Amino acid sequence: MSKQNLLFTPLKAGALELPNRVVMSPLTRSRAEAEHVPGELIAQYYAQRASAGLIIAEATMTAGDASAFIAEPGIYSPEQVAGWKKVTDAVHAAGGRIALQIWHPGRATHPLLNAGAQPVSSSDRPIRGEQIRTLQGTYDYPAPRRLEVSELAGIVELFRAAAENAKDAGFDAVQVHGAHGYLLDQFLRDGVNDRDDQYGGSLENRARLMFEVVDAAIQVYGADRVGLRLSPLVPFNDMVDSDPRALTEYVAEQLDRRRIAFFDLRHANHAAPAEEVLARIARRAYTGVLMRNGGFDQATGEDALAAGTADAIIYGKPFIANPDLVERFRSGAELAPVDFSTLYTPGPKGYTDYPALESAGGNHLALAV
Ligand SMILES: Cc1cc2nc3c(=O)[nH]c(=O)nc-3n(C[C@H](O)[C@H](O)[C@H](O)COP(=O)(O)O)c2cc1C
Repeated sequence: MSKQNLLFTPLKAGALELPNRVVMSPLTRSRAEAEHVPGELIAQYYAQRASAGLIIAEATMTAGDASAFIAEPGIYSPEQVAGWKKVTDAVHAAGGRIALQIWHPGRATHPLLNAGAQPVSSSDRPIRGEQIRTLQGTYDYPAPRRLEVSELAGIVELFRAAAENAKDAGFDAVQVHGAHGYLLDQFLRDGVNDRDDQYGGSLENRARLMFEVVDAAIQVYGADRVGLRLSPLVPFNDMVDSDPRALTEYVAEQLDRRRIAFFDLRHANHAAPAEEVLARIARRAYTGVLMRNGGFDQATGEDALAAGTADAIIYGKPFIANPDLVERFRSGAELAPVDFSTLYTPGPKGYTDYPALESAGGNHLALAV
């Protein structure tokens, strides 16, 4: 166990009071019920992980024709809001805090997942070199339809309604998904965005849609309960940008002006030199709470906190098999391995059946003192 234990110190992120700096990353697990409604199983799963400083719940659909996975949850219908209310109640009853990641896949989906609807994007360029899974099989991505400027207010409206619904459902905050090659990232990064209108070309133009969405979320929640995820170097979904440093700096400056609760910088691998440069740029331009994610373990997380390159560390895969990750870090217990075969399969197996350490008398706890 690390000497410093900064991971276990409290942190104020906007209006959020985190008891520790071990944050749970948004993780799609495809366990929603029919019509993308979250049920008891999802409530149980998140409640099991309530000791995280903050849970950022999985990418959640902002519209009925914006599904990209099978059985991911939505936040656009009254039934979904009622389902999520059970989730937030369960997490709060277990002493936790939970934010919702609001999301639109843009071109990273398929008509078979959306009743025949063609995907939309900043351009008509399809994702190449990757495929998408549907109930009918795995396919190449189709070419998206390029959104007209006149349609973009409607996209912002989807996110605003999602934030309002998230508030009704009792979420402590929302995180705008600006990462991983989904719709907002498809506008942001110039490997996809080839527009020549006010939503293309300069960084300011490419980031316009994302900040319209962030501002809509701020109107609903207040800046102190809004976060943003960004992944300038993550190539997933066939993404690239010609100048990720300038992009990071511009977004960080804009977030700083808005005083949002937290900035989630998602690295492909935090230790890569190019990623460390981005972290330094973000740190300099953004004076709020910077959370970093991507391949951290306990020791490297402590190092980043000690070096001042992050205020909190976001853990993804470690939370899948270790619902009590905070306690395991604290006690120096071994981490359970993830069963990758059950990441997206229905039911509790590989979802809610990963046990916590025994609370009393276990060897792990004995080792910790
Ligand atoms: C099963 C799985 C599902 C994921 N789903 C999401 C998601 O819904 N939203 C998101 O922003 N990132 C998602 N990610 C990425 C993780 O949040 C995280 O960024 C990534 O796993 C790197 O962190 P780690 O090294 O701690 O696992 C997912 C990753 C995995 C493995």
